[in-house]
Amino acid sequence: MAILSGKTVLLIIGGGIAAYKSLELIRLLKKRGVRVRCIMTRASEEFVTPLSVASLTGEKVHGELFNLTDEVEMGHIEFSRAADLLVVAPATADLMAKMAHGNANDLASTTLLATDKRVLIAPAMNVRMWTHAATIRNLAQLKADGVLVVGPNDGEMACGEYGPGRMAEPAEIITAIEADLQTSPRLLAGKKVLITAGPTHEAIDPVRYIANYSSGKQGYALAEAAVALGAETILVSGPVALPIPPGVQMIPVTSAVEMLEACQREIPCDIAIFAAAVADWRMGAPARQKIKKDAQALPSLQLVENPDILMTVAKAEAKRPKIVIGFAAETENLLANARAKLKKKGCDLMVANDVSAGRGVFGGDRNTVHLVTEAGTESWEHLTKLDVAKRLMDRFTSMLKDKT
Ligand code: C5P
Repeated sequence: MAILSGKTVLLIIGGGIAAYKSLELIRLLKKRGVRVRCIMTRASEEFVTPLSVASLTGEKVHGELFNLTDEVEMGHIEFSRAADLLVVAPATADLMAKMAHGNANDLASTTLLATDKRVLIAPAMNVRMWTHAATIRNLAQLKADGVLVVGPNDGEMACGEYGPGRMAEPAEIITAIEADLQTSPRLLAGKKVLITAGPTHEAIDPVRYIANYSSGKQGYALAEAAVALGAETILVSGPVALPIPPGVQMIPVTSAVEMLEACQREIPCDIAIFAAAVADWRMGAPARQKIKKDAQALPSLQLVENPDILMTVAKAEAKRPKIVIGFAAETENLLANARAKLKKKGCDLMVANDVSAGRGVFGGDRNTVHLVTEAGTESWEHLTKLDVAKRLMDRFTSMLKDKT
């Protein structure tokens, strides 16, 4: 009960027969001390009336995007951010499609696109719509974007068919809301966390570059975990194909030199985590035009060493972050190399992982890590990158607490 007391939920009611259950959801949330603000799609007003919703929430119900009074009182961008969690119930096939594609043509979809908060959806639709390839695609996209999903359940449907598609019961939705809001003890509120992630690209000529296989997944998972702990989270990321975790301040960069400049602008900070796979070398002078292959000799690439971003920041004296974390991705002598790097680079802890071919770490969703400090080494079991990230952030949080 206490978990939800004092929280604000922005409930978006979609147009489906299950909308009647949203009234019960509002009642249960109010009973738990939650402020519930509501947006109704035009279609949802065919199923439940704005008057019922307003009576239960004790708040004005919002429906039109271009309602000038609302925009003056509180713009839709602000509206999307003044909640602890957004809940879409029922999430119709249409709303899910809009969310997956980033459409914004009414207040509900605009708010969902403008928000920096987590979103929980409770899908509800006919079983054939739920099992259609388009909905399966949209659901996969939403999950990849970090959207939380509860239900749907199997059962008899209003249309007479049987199968998955019934909206989760209000009590189940409450459990999902509690699970999300509970996992966020904001231990890093007011703290600044800087994270580097992904590979860097070093130009050879206007069309070619030096890079590596880093997917950025571990660094992005760390950023997500840092946001969940309430940290101001700056993610300096090389080129990757991942969605920006909600709540993260993203600084996109391409090369190691740009990554260093971005990090230098962000220090000092409380915790700095260097998860990027920075290219060790770059071209001394990238060719201004595309290098032609029909020249007499093979081109020779004159390389120079890139700056070591971690080492520069760890040795930044007055601007040194309170806690500096490095990653050691190795294909051999993992722990010995990690220990050597811990000393050489001057960080407080090295996260060592084996990236040999066949380990599935590069691009994969799981990781086996070892924590190397002056005091010794601790090995963790094989975990998802998100679980690794959550446990690492907990560890870094207690290291910060010990130091301050
Ligand atoms: O590449 P190396 O194994 O030395 O990387 C170890 C750590 O140093 C990683 O945390 C990586 O992000 C960081 N690093 C860096 N700048 C470089 C090379 C590595 O910040 N130029």
